[in-house]
Amino acid sequence: MSDMREMEPVDYPIPAPEVLDPPAQWAELRQKCPVAGVRFPSGDAAVLLTRYEDVRLALSDSRLTREGLARPDAARITAGDAEGIFSSPMARTLNAEGHERWRRMVGKWFTAKRMAALKPRMEETADRLIDTMIEHGSPADVISHLAFPLPVYVICTMLGVPESDRELFKGWSDTFLNMTKYTKEETDAAHRDFASYMAGLIEAKRQAPGEDLLSQLMDGTDAEGEPMSEEGLVATGQALLLAGHETTAGFIAMMTAHLLSERSRWERLLADPSLIRSAVEEVLRFDPNGSGFGMLRYAHDDVELSEGTIPRGTTVVCSMAAANRDERAWDGPDAMDLGRSPNPHLTFGAGAHSCLGQPLARTELQAVLGVMLRRLPDLRLAVDARELQRHEGMLTSHLTEVPVTW
Ligand code: HEM
Repeated sequence: MSDMREMEPVDYPIPAPEVLDPPAQWAELRQKCPVAGVRFPSGDAAVLLTRYEDVRLALSDSRLTREGLARPDAARITAGDAEGIFSSPMARTLNAEGHERWRRMVGKWFTAKRMAALKPRMEETADRLIDTMIEHGSPADVISHLAFPLPVYVICTMLGVPESDRELFKGWSDTFLNMTKYTKEETDAAHRDFASYMAGLIEAKRQAPGEDLLSQLMDGTDAEGEPMSEEGLVATGQALLLAGHETTAGFIAMMTAHLLSERSRWERLLADPSLIRSAVEEVLRFDPNGSGFGMLRYAHDDVELSEGTIPRGTTVVCSMAAANRDERAWDGPDAMDLGRSPNPHLTFGAGAHSCLGQPLARTELQAVLGVMLRRLPDLRLAVDARELQRHEGMLTSHLTEVPVTW
């Protein structure tokens, strides 16, 4: 078995010729080179993991950290990334020493009871967005009508933002996510406006607390004792918007595309909506794009894996999407099986940093799929699935448009 030292570094990210399929090289790397040397667009070197067991272990191993990515010897993705996403306000909040405490405080909000209570509101919002899409007329783009606005609205509900201010959040989120589309002045202005809006919102919540996350975090009377500082509340709001918007929007779009690209999938769900839950998990596992870049970690020590060593000081890319197709871990990994169970995919990560918002994301994907099946049973892609275009973002890549008819 060869390891990274015997192969030329692979340029990363690895391009995928077909929009809904993974690059063929993933299977080859899993087989021949599970610890592979790669080169980022910046020219910096890193190591890529593609096997399920390796990715799961690496994401959970305390010798591999996200904090280490701020070190000067960590690989940068692009040349302009020195001030990049790992030193953003989100990263500073999430990587601070108090991460564990922060995670406990915020995580407590995502209870099963609260998710169940939120689901009808998500369905109602999806219903209204679909009304507008139907008014617009067929064909229409699922992303602009449904996939992009719904997750922002859900995050607004979570933070207790009034409906009349939701469009502001949509604008800010767009600016925070598109670091290359806006000037530094525009991005700085969005950060200032967001912080001052949040300060006002926090004040309003102090006067009249609600069921929202901010009210919970500023209430220091529970078991955690200390309320969160205002700075922490603002950063948390921004972190959740950054972590929860584009990811979920991307998956709503991908889910629509995957389920309609072979219409028998859609028809199976129409015939048996009890499969919605497992279908959502299967789309999360199957999709090669949404988490296609993978999660980065920095190795503070040598880490031995079954077929190679990650040397200390290395930046590591954990490709959850490649792991989700590992023949060693899954039966028929390249088939989309809407009833697959169990389905321990790695799309939400693993370990101490795994997705905090996953109960919300799951509920949202289930809610929107249920409403789409009920309202638009005749839904079809308006173009051949191979014509769908990808937008390559910094860490995620997603579809630019999903045109549909009904
Ligand atoms: C389908 C949608 C989503 C996907 C695929 C996704 C994926 C992920 C992944 C892979 C991580 C781990 C990052 C790492 O290991 O470094 C993560 C972290 C996180 N996600 Fe999500 N996410 C989604 C939706 C959401 C939503 C809706 C929220 C909340 C509104 C959210 C909040 C977070 C937070 C706060 C973290 C950081 C956790 C920590 O550092 O402890 N995510 N997400």
